[in-house]
Amino acid sequence: MTDDILKVLISENEIKQKVQELGKTISSDYEGKNVLVLGVLKGSFVFMADLIRELSIPVEVEFMAVSSYHSGVKTSGVVKIIKDIDINPQNLHILIVEDILDSGLTLSYLKGLLMQRGATDIRIATLLDKPARRIADIKADYTCFEVPDEFVVGYGLDYAEQYRNLPYVGVLKPEVYGQPAGQEKQAKG
Ligand code: IMP
Ligand code: MG
Repeated sequence: MTDDILKVLISENEIKQKVQELGKTISSDYEGKNVLVLGVLKGSFVFMADLIRELSIPVEVEFMAVSSYHSGVKTSGVVKIIKDIDINPQNLHILIVEDILDSGLTLSYLKGLLMQRGATDIRIATLLDKPARRIADIKADYTCFEVPDEFVVGYGLDYAEQYRNLPYVGVLKPEVYGQPAGQEKQAKG
């Protein structure tokens, strides 16, 4: 598996440190509030598992699964809910946890939906931010790392459902995709 990695972009130690810092910040920002930590499957599950263990405030945990349709260079902006939350988000402070903020279409849709359903406040915590690719007008409230416009895998992020279990974030060798570097890749969750 590691033979497929061109370079390690963010090491296991760097991630650990940043997640610890973020946990402290979030814990103090949300002190005294009822927080629902909402992970977007599947990519967020590793980050979320580590992040919630750095929180000193009481939290509830839920997951949603959505799929966004990216075909080639076009992004349709259509987001389909595969798994919804079972609880009513009314009057809750929701912290959405994502693996990467890319076009932003998924999160902008999710945020709108949860606002419509009556959440008091919605913030976004993302492990990675790739601002170069943003289409939707959306910003993360908490970001661990900004990454260049390269397709990355590991620590929850996949290529063709592989590499989620790498403990670091890395860039794949172009030959793994069977196409030159920098071209659009397909990703799910
Ligand atoms: P969006 O384009 O911001 O809606 O991001 C949708 C999803 O695409 C993210 O949650 C990731 O699961 C996936 N994605 C975007 N960029 C990458 C990447 O570089 N590697 C792996 N998955 C990605
Ligand atoms: Mg995702």
